[in-house]
Amino acid sequence: MGTRGLIFSSALLLLLLLLLLLAQPVLVVSATPPFACDPASPSTRSFRFCQTTLPIDKRVSDLISRLTLEEKIQQLDDETPAILRLGVPRYNWWSEALHGVSSWGNGIHFNPLTIPGATSFPQVILTAASFNPDLWYRIGQAIGVEARALYNAAHADGLTFWSPNVNIFRDPRWGRGQETPGEDPTTASKYAVAFVRGLQGDSPTGERSGQLMASACCKHFTAYDLDDWNGNVRYTFDARVTAQDMEDTFQPPFRSCVEQGRATCVMCSYNRVNGVPTCADYNLLTKQAKKAWGLDGYIASDCAAVDYLYGATHYAQTLEEAVGYALKAGVDINCGKVMSQHVGSAIQKGNVSESDIDRALFNAFSLRMKLGLFNGNPQHLPSGDIPPSQVCSTKHKNLALQAAQDGIVLLKNTDNTLPLARSKVTSLGVIGPNADAPPSLLGNYNGPPCEVITPLAALQYSVDYTRFAVGCNVAGNVTEIPRAVHLARSVDYVIMFMGLDQDQEREALDRTDLVLPGMQQTLISKVAEAAKKPIILVLLSGGPLDITFAKNDPRIGAILWAGYPGEAGGTAISSIIFGEHNPGLLHATYLIDLVGAGGKLPVTWYPQDFTKVPMTDMRMRADPATGYPGRTYRFYTGKPVYQFGYGLSYSKYSYEFEAGAATSIYLNNSLSPQAQRNDPNTLSYDIASLGFNTCGELKISATVGVKNHGPMAGRHPVLLFSRWPSTEHGRPVKQLVGFQSVHLEAGESTKVEFSLSACEHLSRVMDDGRRVLDKGSHFLIVGDKEHEISIVA
Ligand SMILES: *[C@@H]1O[C@H](CO)[C@@H](O)[C@H](O)[C@H]1NC(C)=O
Ligand SMILES: *[C@@H]1O[C@H](CO)[C@@H](O)[C@H](O)[C@H]1NC(C)=O
Ligand SMILES: *[C@@H]1O[C@H](CO)[C@@H](O)[C@H](O)[C@H]1NC(C)=O
Repeated sequence: MGTRGLIFSSALLLLLLLLLLLAQPVLVVSATPPFACDPASPSTRSFRFCQTTLPIDKRVSDLISRLTLEEKIQQLDDETPAILRLGVPRYNWWSEALHGVSSWGNGIHFNPLTIPGATSFPQVILTAASFNPDLWYRIGQAIGVEARALYNAAHADGLTFWSPNVNIFRDPRWGRGQETPGEDPTTASKYAVAFVRGLQGDSPTGERSGQLMASACCKHFTAYDLDDWNGNVRYTFDARVTAQDMEDTFQPPFRSCVEQGRATCVMCSYNRVNGVPTCADYNLLTKQAKKAWGLDGYIASDCAAVDYLYGATHYAQTLEEAVGYALKAGVDINCGKVMSQHVGSAIQKGNVSESDIDRALFNAFSLRMKLGLFNGNPQHLPSGDIPPSQVCSTKHKNLALQAAQDGIVLLKNTDNTLPLARSKVTSLGVIGPNADAPPSLLGNYNGPPCEVITPLAALQYSVDYTRFAVGCNVAGNVTEIPRAVHLARSVDYVIMFMGLDQDQEREALDRTDLVLPGMQQTLISKVAEAAKKPIILVLLSGGPLDITFAKNDPRIGAILWAGYPGEAGGTAISSIIFGEHNPGLLHATYLIDLVGAGGKLPVTWYPQDFTKVPMTDMRMRADPATGYPGRTYRFYTGKPVYQFGYGLSYSKYSYEFEAGAATSIYLNNSLSPQAQRNDPNTLSYDIASLGFNTCGELKISATVGVKNHGPMAGRHPVLLFSRWPSTEHGRPVKQLVGFQSVHLEAGESTKVEFSLSACEHLSRVMDDGRRVLDKGSHFLIVGDKEHEISIVA
């Protein structure tokens, strides 16, 4: 769009604003989004790069060949200026959509009068707890559609979203653990693939019909999960990672995100890995992500990470050297200003060559073209008719509710305290700082929500006599304990809303404790003591909490963990507490007839004494010699408060491995298994030497019968693990290899089929990073059932 267009659309916007002010509440949104190759512009429409019948690489090469060096340099940062003489509008690379289109970043512009907000899904850690890839896909898809609707209505000058965050939630104190799908590489990989396919507009199985709906970015590459702990900050932290942990913990989500998810972007992180800042690491960015995994897109730097190559770390001697390191390592778009300011002088000093810039621009402009931004009027794109009414549509709001309902985890339920029969609840006391605090529901990297129903509002809607006392603030250093105790004494039932918020854990703020902040525990215990019946405790938090006191306190009848449950969080929590839905709330008709709590913890809940472990110690495996306990359910040797995958249900479920599942896998291969160094008792096959074809034949199919014994219908994730006969030599205790979520009526059964590959799902990683498959016994585990499979030579 040229200057004329800009002036025109500003005038239009003013007119629109006036109209809106005069004619409320009629909502009209009509303006032209920024696009290149306007057919109405005679000076630009003849350019070769505008000819949509040509392949994109030809078009991009033509565009780059028309740019002056100075113009090229200005296109390397996230806020790129327009190139008016070529009809190319400005573009903002930085937008966020972690759990809904966000207002963080520069590309999306909400407007209180036109499109004030977008559907705010639960924070990712709660959505992960559903273990439901279909749900993850549909959330990604809804976000992609809302992003396009915003763009079509001229509320976006970027469609590149720096989401999802697929770092492994390695340490429970990490402030950004809430943004991730948890501690398990298989879960994080499947989350990445499902979310990215949905957001980018691909099919659930990964087919792409043509134009990208939006662009997703897998971040932060890699081994990033420390923000600020004990004087160690992410900008300078050097993560010392073994080849073994790299291969079987930190890299799998990124690899899946790129290879199967076909994400069009990877973002390098702030930290170093084994001495090298990731944004300056050619092996990581170019050799691995671009060449080995085939990233078809661009690499972005985390914001100011390139500046910090010089400023914070002095890895580079000058800013010119810093931009040189980044561009040569494979960074294509820098978040910040350092490229436009220093690439010119870097060329003069010989730290950057024009071909480095051309490569970066090739990746950047190719993506803008794949988004359809160089195809003339975007109304003619396949996505051109997505209207503003798709933002906060009933369908998307229902999905936000379903996501929260499916994720919420029932941690304790003594004597079926829950669900509460609503008709029996004549008076209800609601206590706690998270009962009526909309920001506590939304987590971070959020956008303005469509609407928010707090737990207090939802409960007030359900029970006429509902009284509230805040009890304390989330920090637990301002209390009103006597008032809360008085309320607890005066009502039939008490529900407490405690836990954390963004002042306790967030980006740049790791926790130092795992227990509840300040006086929260005291308040809970005093209220439980005063209440007539065992109380219900609802915890909002991203990271895990040591709530051993509550687990053991018989006056606390039930505990729910609700993550940060998003805009529909209050409704979701209330529906789970009462085991029913309440169609009147939110003025929406909810089609989901689900009532049971079904989520499972996507992270280990460690005891407080885990805080003795330095957060800087990246090792996953335990070291008994020094008392290092190891990390996550795969390696932790201590006793967790609640384990990964834990979560109760309102119904009882049972599992059976179906008869007829394979018990032996024959490796008819000329290759003989090798005794491994330091491990003479096991013979194993090197996966790399087995090769793709042999591995392709080593399929395992396991069918698991699942039955809901009642009394309630519910959604239920079925988690399949594998384990080895021993945990020696760095073998995990067990490893999640597959999961599916099923909905079962009371009394109903179904069969769940898992297709596994021995090379992928039964293999392990040696200390040198090689993947091997042990000859002999392996076990598949679901619930309390095991099935043995033998690898036979
Ligand atoms: C960057 O340029 C300076 C000055 O020409 C040179 O001394 C330095 O070695 C270069 N750095 C790199 C990493 O190439
Ligand atoms: C409560 O603790 C927070 C830190 O979590 C602190 O910022 C605040 O000043 C404290 N307030 C009072 C009243 O002590
Ligand atoms: C390997 O050999 C066994 C027994 O000879 C046979 O049953 C099996 O089908 C063969 N497997 C493959 C993958 O060819």
